[in-house]
Amino acid sequence: MPKKRRRKEDRTITKCLFPAAGYGTRFLPATKATPKEMLPILTKPLIQYGVEEAVEAGIHTMAIVTGRGKRAIEDHFDRSYELEHQIKGTSKEPLMNEVRSLITQCTFSYTRQVEMKGLGHAILTGETLIGSEPFAVLLADDLCTNGADSVLKQMIEVYEKYQCSVVAIEEVSMDQTDKYGVIAGNLIDGTDDTYRVTDMVEKPAPKDAPTNMAIIGRYILTPDIFDILRETKPGKGGEIQITDALLDQAKQGKVIAYKFKGKRFDCGSVDGFVEATNYFYEKSKREN
Ligand code: G1P
Repeated sequence: MPKKRRRKEDRTITKCLFPAAGYGTRFLPATKATPKEMLPILTKPLIQYGVEEAVEAGIHTMAIVTGRGKRAIEDHFDRSYELEHQIKGTSKEPLMNEVRSLITQCTFSYTRQVEMKGLGHAILTGETLIGSEPFAVLLADDLCTNGADSVLKQMIEVYEKYQCSVVAIEEVSMDQTDKYGVIAGNLIDGTDDTYRVTDMVEKPAPKDAPTNMAIIGRYILTPDIFDILRETKPGKGGEIQITDALLDQAKQGKVIAYKFKGKRFDCGSVDGFVEATNYFYEKSKREN
């Protein structure tokens, strides 16, 4: 039987939040006057890969939490009449096709995080753009790729089944646990990739980590997370951590961790950034 196409109003997750207020200090001086989300892998900025992943998952409302010095993101997702006029009819025109298509398919709204108080605080700042519906969160410096369904799309399917918050996880080597939120949980429903989370810790030292299952920058969150975040005290590094707020939901059995299918590059680090560049370069050579 042919798959029934979902109508827009049937979709459960319609908005994607992009926390994009961080300073990107690991990439100084490149990020002195340029948002880290605008650093390109080949010719495309990181945040555009993220928006494309959201669109692939059927999401067309992008909610971006920015900060000072991030205006280039807004300009990127806007028309540029002068430039478009200049390149019209030339061989360069197609280079703008992808971003132009995103601009016509999506709406972009922005709010500013005035003080940098952590990822949890950035997500709470986005409440004004999200309202009271479940939503996706995408951290653009985790660049994900998959031949078939995008990671967000896979996660939305998991959300639709369990109707609670979902985090994407991958196994990392034990000496890397202090870079991530780490979960513990039990496999459910006879799967080998879906866990009911029982514990989560933000950036534990290897000796304190419950497992090596690390959260990557993809989340589906239910809107009660905002009330929890309002009450969440600063945690690791003195910041309000989304991991701590999620632990509150996990204690009620309401967080699923999903081991996604695909590849993820940590483009928040120079090594991961170079790895992603090489990967996409090889891929583009194969495709051309
Ligand atoms: C954030 C979260 C962390 C998560 C990571 C994924 O950390 O706090 O729990 O594992 O994103 O990329 P950050 O990388 O912003 O320090």
